[in-house]
Amino acid sequence: MAQVLRHLPSVVDSNVLVDAATRDDAAVYQLTPDRALVATVDFFTPIVDDAATWGAIAAANALSDVYAMGGRPLFALNLVGWPRESVPFDLLGEVLRGAAQVTGRAGCLMLGGHSIDDPEPKFGLAVIGEVHPDRMLTNATAHPGDRLVLTKALGTGILTTALKRDLVPESALEEAVESMTRLNDGAARAAIAAGVRCATDVTGFGLLGHLGNILVASAVGARIDVAKVPKLAGALELAARGSVPGGTKRNLESANAEWAPDITDAERILCVDAQTSGGLLLAVGPERLDALLAGLQAEGTPAAAVIGEVLPEADGLRLVRGGAPG
Ligand code: CO
Ligand code: CO
Repeated sequence: MAQVLRHLPSVVDSNVLVDAATRDDAAVYQLTPDRALVATVDFFTPIVDDAATWGAIAAANALSDVYAMGGRPLFALNLVGWPRESVPFDLLGEVLRGAAQVTGRAGCLMLGGHSIDDPEPKFGLAVIGEVHPDRMLTNATAHPGDRLVLTKALGTGILTTALKRDLVPESALEEAVESMTRLNDGAARAAIAAGVRCATDVTGFGLLGHLGNILVASAVGARIDVAKVPKLAGALELAARGSVPGGTKRNLESANAEWAPDITDAERILCVDAQTSGGLLLAVGPERLDALLAGLQAEGTPAAAVIGEVLPEADGLRLVRGGAPG
């Protein structure tokens, strides 16, 4: 992907606050001194059997990039690829209904969209939001000494792959589905209230991939305590049994990390597992950590785990067991 992004023209425009150069979650375009637009797009193929649930997950996932910038979603447009010959349109109605429930919860209006005939179903949203430029969360503002906090457990890629391979019944995915359909709005509210400035969300490149973007954009290193990383029930066992999505395998190959020797293969897989609609990864100064954790708890985020800390750039990315500050 990095090679492809290289072909984008570099942008020189003082209204552009965030562009593709830092691989952040969304583009941010300033309109006035106190208003900026946040724009993002996300779509993918079905990851669960139930159409409405797929729509709900896709919507929560697309909205997440607005929250990861500290923004508030305003409106969304549907993106649909649909095999009109082979799959009934009623099912697309279910997808849209599931998505609309989630956008409704987000206070985000659904104003239109576009569909094409496509041999494989695809669904997602383009979302437009807004943010105050002074309260924007980016991936370029982490500092050595910051604590790293994750707001959802990892393992959605492993679990949805297990479902596709009939290794688990759909009932084993309840926790994962609950997590994937949960908005990151509460996590973002808690972050902003605590004065956090650095965030991203954990999606297709896994925890280490999205953390890696923070490290590059902020010119820092990090240490992660694998024992503190929150995990969905069954994820480690299924990873050990080989339930590993293709994207996760690619993430592991490209992970630029130093692993302590006692970290298991399943733990490594979990740390790079391609997430759908994952949580926010926040870097917070130690003096603001307690306020952030209290805020996340009050919002009832699926997790509020301190998983490591930001180090100077020369330290690179280190995975350890134990030893990270709490
Ligand atoms: Co993102
Ligand atoms: Co995205």
